[in-house]
Amino acid sequence: MDYRDNIEKVLITAEELAQMVDNLAAQISRDYADKDLLLVCILKGSMIFTGELMQRLTIPSQVDFMKVSSYGSGTTAGVLKVHLDLKRDDLDSKDILIIEDCIDTGRTLGGLSRYLKGKGCRSVKTCALLDKPSRREITFAPDYVGKEIPNEFVVGYGLDYDEDYRSLPYIAVLKPECYN
Ligand code: PRP
Repeated sequence: MDYRDNIEKVLITAEELAQMVDNLAAQISRDYADKDLLLVCILKGSMIFTGELMQRLTIPSQVDFMKVSSYGSGTTAGVLKVHLDLKRDDLDSKDILIIEDCIDTGRTLGGLSRYLKGKGCRSVKTCALLDKPSRREITFAPDYVGKEIPNEFVVGYGLDYDEDYRSLPYIAVLKPECYN
């Protein structure tokens, strides 16, 4: 089976993604030049973005991984469930940058920012490759954003539909029949 048969349209090409990640890496390298940067990759969707971003940084950085989910209703941040946590004892000296593939309601990043601030990290900021501001349910604004996109279900570059399509090198919308 060829995944490409299921693509309705490519929303962001590989070339545009590379440009977006270049721009983010340049900003982050500038802003964190005198800090102690720890990238926190949120599994699974952010794995490719985190690796590509990290390679382009011109400053030292470390990476660690978390897996979280969140649920809730209304305009409150909701409940954060931590499936994989950071296991390190140097967080008080670290400037954390949470790396996320896509922001939707804002609950995950809102809840996770609060959680990591509570662990005493020196600073906590957020970086998302994609943002769907029209889907926001709580007040949350990331510190770095690759691109705002409309409310379409997208896959590729780490993002999945039912765990498939993460390996596509671009961001795409699937044909409607694929969701059935
Ligand atoms: C997606 C995405 C964020 C979250 C954003 O993760 O990677 O973590 O949803 O949604 P929110 O803004 O509404 O909180 P998903 O649960 O799909 O997990 P995955 O990264 O493992 O695919």
